[in-house]
Amino acid sequence: MCTLRVLLLTVALAAIPSNTETISVRRPTEWWQTATLYQIWPRSFKDSDGDGVGDLNGITSKLDYLAELGIEVVWLSPFFASPLIDSGYDVSDYLSVNPAYGTLDDFDALVARAKKLGLKVVLDYVPNHTSDEHAWFNLSRHSVDPYTDYYVWNDGISVNGTRQPPNNWLSVFNSGSAWQWDETRQQYYLHQFHVKQPDLNFRNEKVINETKNILTFWLDRGIDGFRIDSLPYMVENIDLLDEPESGLEGYTETDFYYLDHIYVKDQPENYEIVRTWRNHVDDYSKSSNVTSTRVTFTEAYANLTNIMKYYEYGSHVPFNFFFIKDSEGVNNAILDTADDVVQIITQWMTNMPEGGTANWVFGNHDNSRIATKLGEGRVDAVNILLFLLPGVATIYNGDELGMTDTYLTWQQTEDPQACNTDPSRYEYFSRDPERTPYQWDNTTSAGFSTNNVTMLPVNSNYLEVNLAAQQSSDVSHYKNVEALIKLRRTNVIREGSLDVKVLNDSIISFSRELKNEEPIIVLINWDNETSSTVNLEVFENVPDNLEVLIADIHSGIDVGTKYVKNEISLPPNAAIVLRRDQTSGSGAIGSSDHHLLPLLSILFITLIVNRFFNCH
Ligand code: GLC
Ligand code: MG
Repeated sequence: MCTLRVLLLTVALAAIPSNTETISVRRPTEWWQTATLYQIWPRSFKDSDGDGVGDLNGITSKLDYLAELGIEVVWLSPFFASPLIDSGYDVSDYLSVNPAYGTLDDFDALVARAKKLGLKVVLDYVPNHTSDEHAWFNLSRHSVDPYTDYYVWNDGISVNGTRQPPNNWLSVFNSGSAWQWDETRQQYYLHQFHVKQPDLNFRNEKVINETKNILTFWLDRGIDGFRIDSLPYMVENIDLLDEPESGLEGYTETDFYYLDHIYVKDQPENYEIVRTWRNHVDDYSKSSNVTSTRVTFTEAYANLTNIMKYYEYGSHVPFNFFFIKDSEGVNNAILDTADDVVQIITQWMTNMPEGGTANWVFGNHDNSRIATKLGEGRVDAVNILLFLLPGVATIYNGDELGMTDTYLTWQQTEDPQACNTDPSRYEYFSRDPERTPYQWDNTTSAGFSTNNVTMLPVNSNYLEVNLAAQQSSDVSHYKNVEALIKLRRTNVIREGSLDVKVLNDSIISFSRELKNEEPIIVLINWDNETSSTVNLEVFENVPDNLEVLIADIHSGIDVGTKYVKNEISLPPNAAIVLRRDQTSGSGAIGSSDHHLLPLLSILFITLIVNRFFNCH
């Protein structure tokens, strides 16, 4: 009895985790839970026919490259019929391909090639609005049923005898009122984005049914899921209440962020619609003879609480934009210190609902590129975070090369969000700099096109920054991404626990650990001026002798460099991935063995204590 009591007490004490920062990760059971998602911008990826504009056949010709790199899923930004006012996010026919990009047959060929290579294909779906050139809008403005209420129409109000929009709502694209008078229908229509992007009316069941038909059409063509666009904007306050001013500095009265969007964004009705789509996609997967989960990735810039709701309402992967935007989803994220970065990681991991899959995004077609925003010296550091944290990693085409934003003049600018401002402010708003042609090699137009006039100009740095150069170099951003994706496929990265810490104020560090596997340790000096020497004894299961598996290209540290764990010196901005020194004789102490050690000592202590109290 006495032995048992002492034993229980000591075991209970040992069960209190000595390191409370360890976050456990669920074993993935589905293909998408550890996916590497690669975003392709069709207009600028690869031009196959020399017209200076990217196209579907161009994409197909490069799928081998993506498969080789280790990409598992490609997400294609919109290539549907469109007048291209908002780069294709203004769709005039969801069921056809824009002739500028090819044909439905080209699309089928793309999917067939992807399948051969084992790549999954995800399409962008833009539900919130259509183009004003969509047939539905034409029928709606002529009040032809059943289309009459497909959009959000309103008579407006009369102020001193003058007709005015029903409220003060503003367009996201900084053009002033979100309402446009339509002469034909003699009513206003709502456009949260461009005036040529009228909002669909999601209070109308018929609209919801149309959306399901669109999803089915593409699922039938063999795709694996959707990235669903602009979800916070789907439903607006039914009483059309005026929004209050935001008080944010730097915005003028016609800028979207002049107001605080409490009535046009994040309305409670939005989430049920997400659930409807999730159910639809699930039903499709169940009834299909190809048994594979079709996945929904959701795009919402919102605050943490609202983002987490998308998990609850069925989004497989609500994009984690907190490395891009602050926790309110409005201003740019602050990533000044190691602590800022670590907070973002733990914030997501600890707020995600039970059973959720984590995900990380650093760049896309709406935001300044990593190499420009965070500095070229941090490209590898960011990719190390992206690929070695648990869950889904999304990378925007070109970020694997550290491509930078391209400077464009006011005259060259196409993005409506910038064109609606003025020459003194457009750069702050423009998304064109991150949308210029992909830099394949050092030939004409960076190998993007045989044409030397391209959709947007090629960045002048293409002679140095291009894929071919990085493939033939021993050390490059591309080579590191390749190595990271390989490492990402090991069990310890797929399902190992995460222990993340700030060391010496400036070092972002984390370990990934799994029973019977060797831990992987990441160290990133986030400071770009000062070196720092760390002691990894703070990590419980880190072996004494370590070697570098991956090193950022500017660190001056070679792959294979050996360290003892209590003294690792990192130059400014250096980022490295470590594992046990494979040549050190001691052999791996699997973390499981390490966990056995305290237990064995407890048994030993128990025996001594038993002796001491003379228990029988
Ligand atoms: C999403 C897209 C963006 C587009 C907007 C309107 O935010 O990512 O590029 O302009 O929706 O469709
Ligand atoms: Mg072309």
